[in-house]
Amino acid sequence: MLGGPEVLRVEEVPVPAPGVGEVLVEVHAGGLNFADTERRRGLYLASEPLPETSGFEGAGVVCALGPGVDAGWLQRRVAFTAPRAHAEYCAVPGGKLIALPDALDFVQAAAFPVQALTAWHVLHTLGRVTPRDVVLVHSAAGGVGQLLVQLAREAGATVIGSVSRDGKQPRVRALGAHHVLTRGPEFLAALQAVAPGGVTLLLEAVGAEVSKEVLPALAPLGRWVTYGSASGAPPPLELEALFEKSVTVSAFWLRTVMPPAVAEGAQGEVLARLLDGRLTQEVTRCALEEAPRVHRRLEAGLTTGKWVFTVR
Ligand SMILES: NC(=O)c1ccc[n+]([C@@H]2O[C@H](COP(=O)([O-])OP(=O)(O)OC[C@H]3O[C@@H](n4cnc5c(N)ncnc54)[C@H](OP(=O)(O)O)[C@@H]3O)[C@@H](O)[C@H]2O)c1
Repeated sequence: MLGGPEVLRVEEVPVPAPGVGEVLVEVHAGGLNFADTERRRGLYLASEPLPETSGFEGAGVVCALGPGVDAGWLQRRVAFTAPRAHAEYCAVPGGKLIALPDALDFVQAAAFPVQALTAWHVLHTLGRVTPRDVVLVHSAAGGVGQLLVQLAREAGATVIGSVSRDGKQPRVRALGAHHVLTRGPEFLAALQAVAPGGVTLLLEAVGAEVSKEVLPALAPLGRWVTYGSASGAPPPLELEALFEKSVTVSAFWLRTVMPPAVAEGAQGEVLARLLDGRLTQEVTRCALEEAPRVHRRLEAGLTTGKWVFTVR
């Protein structure tokens, strides 16, 4: 059943059988995402038949193989993105497995696939960031936001983070943002003060709440990458409005089937940075049974960083 956090419950269900091209993963940890709350509310881009096991990512050990899968995956430690991840066992398409280096534990491994790969693609694959960019990261204290701040800073750009509450500012500053602004009636004026030429690359998944401020914030030839709508769907975009500043708009979804070299390239870049510490994630651990409470906090915008549950 779709609805509020109260529709979530922990239940015994049959262990899934891996289909053609799939493996069965014995899940050790799973990542909670804002998208889990959107799916639960019936607002997500993709749907599964109900009743549905929630979750889009996890980490564990491959314990069985479906037909057509390379036998080398058996007993491998993996991270993965796949539906129905919030369970003790998950059937995962072979193409969605990420082999784990020994140095990453399962909690770290369950934390990164959705948020860190999204951040990489938003900033690099679509955003094509350069050191000359003035980058605005909306909701910079969130899971994806914190990663975007670190990656943009590493890329040599000037980084401005926005948050909805002053209390989120210190975390974003500590990650290397040059400026952190709390959104409110004076936001555009404050942005103008720190970026008088405008923002050259604007990254946001807030949607409706910031939709009126996107074009005024951009510099001529500015790029805008949208990757979600946490505050609700924005009004339809008038193409005519893009001409004055010759704006480029891109939309990102991690489920897009990308060329393997692009997908694997991003995985390699992200893993290398998690291992050498260039990229860090603020991870809060919880139990699977706490999912309703975590959903409530995610939906209210009260969390910072990443939430991960463990089941073993
Ligand atoms: N396209 C993709 O493939 C993809 C992949 C991953 C995530 N996403 C999207 O990216 C966004 C961030 O994901 P995340 O995992 O980093 O989530 P998160 O940690 O929960 O961060 C979401 C942030 O959105 C902001 N927000 C603005 N309006 C909100 C509202 N009305 N209710 C709740 N939060 C609101 C909050 O930051 P402030 O309070 O500071 O504004 C919150 O921290 C979500 O919209 C998610 O769906 C998209």
